[in-house]
Amino acid sequence: MGKRSLIGLDIGSRMIKAVELTESRDQVELSALDVIEVPGPGHLRDALRELVGRGGFHTRRTVTAVSGRAVIVRYITMPTMTDEELRNAVRYEAGKYIPFEVEDVILDCQRLDEEGIAAPAVASPGSGMGSTAATKTDEMRVLLVAVKRSFIDDHVALLEEIGLVPSIVDVDSFALGNAFELQNVLRPGSHPVDRTVALVDIGSYKTNINILVGLASYFTREIYVAGSDFTEAIGKRLTIDPSQAEAVKRNPGPRTEEVRETVASVLDDLCHEIFLSFDYFKTQFDREVDEIYLSGGGSLLLGLDETFQRTFGKQPVRWDPTEALTVRADRMNPADLRSMAPLLAVPIGLASRIRKEER
Ligand SMILES: Nc1ncnc2c1ncn2[C@@H]1O[C@H](COP(=O)(O)OP(=O)(O)OP(=O)(O)O)[C@@H](O)[C@H]1O
Ligand SMILES: [Mg+2]
Repeated sequence: MGKRSLIGLDIGSRMIKAVELTESRDQVELSALDVIEVPGPGHLRDALRELVGRGGFHTRRTVTAVSGRAVIVRYITMPTMTDEELRNAVRYEAGKYIPFEVEDVILDCQRLDEEGIAAPAVASPGSGMGSTAATKTDEMRVLLVAVKRSFIDDHVALLEEIGLVPSIVDVDSFALGNAFELQNVLRPGSHPVDRTVALVDIGSYKTNINILVGLASYFTREIYVAGSDFTEAIGKRLTIDPSQAEAVKRNPGPRTEEVRETVASVLDDLCHEIFLSFDYFKTQFDREVDEIYLSGGGSLLLGLDETFQRTFGKQPVRWDPTEALTVRADRMNPADLRSMAPLLAVPIGLASRIRKEER
């Protein structure tokens, strides 16, 4: 069997992360990795161009994600029906769940089986909705995703303009779940099937949550509190500009206590929002979150673990989404890779779609 590669391009609001996964036999190799910072709004195109221009990738086929308020994700319950029927029904049902005109959105849906969901892709040129075996109950859970068509069109146009070949447009929270699934598929047995894990990715602009029972997703949410809010609080309090505030946040040195106090209320807000999500999940499914798995650059904030410990009564787990991948030490420095690991959950999840592609 030949080798195939796919790029997972995570266009974060602050950092663009690109990983390339190459699949051969039963191995998934991390065959390329590049990260570039977006200095501010208006610099996205140039940053992307630079990243792609640096080469280093063996393919142009790319999976990206959209996120934010233009993306609507709903978990709904519907009578059991075939995929064909579901496809039709969803067009009628969607109006109830989305705040946009149905004609203006790209819709996708996926029935949710008990184990190992294949999350829908909002736009997947050339492939339709994935089909899964019918469940035998009279109701089924369905994941519905709607994204404004113009939003996807602009996104795809941008990728094509910089010379990439868009393969799938995904959603950040699903990518997070897919990275966790990949880890567990490559290391079978490492995660108990009945365990409830909340994946929490704290970025710059937003925090994504995906709650999984085993490997099945039950709840996702995006919270608009994250790393840049910490930076902003520091800037205001210490009356320094954003780039200085960013530097102080990452390396507070003698200002450690001041920084800790300054970010405390933002961190409490974030934990409170996460708490509300866990609470909602608990009332809906009568299950507690057993573990919190953290990722995202924003999770590196000083004092964050203590606040999580205090709010949730458990120590958050810092996981390494690269752990189960094959890495060639002659191509990638293991220490560099480990230091980047917190940033890589979403891009690895995006590229992990390589395993689900048709051959
Ligand atoms: N050592 C550190 N301490 C605290 N924060 C950090 C550290 N390193 C990076 N960050 C923060 O991490 C954030 C970037 O992380 P990440 O790349 O996950 O976000 P993003 O994907 O660009 O954002 P989003 O997902 O919200 O669009 C920035 O807010 C940055 O300030
Ligand atoms: Mg991000």
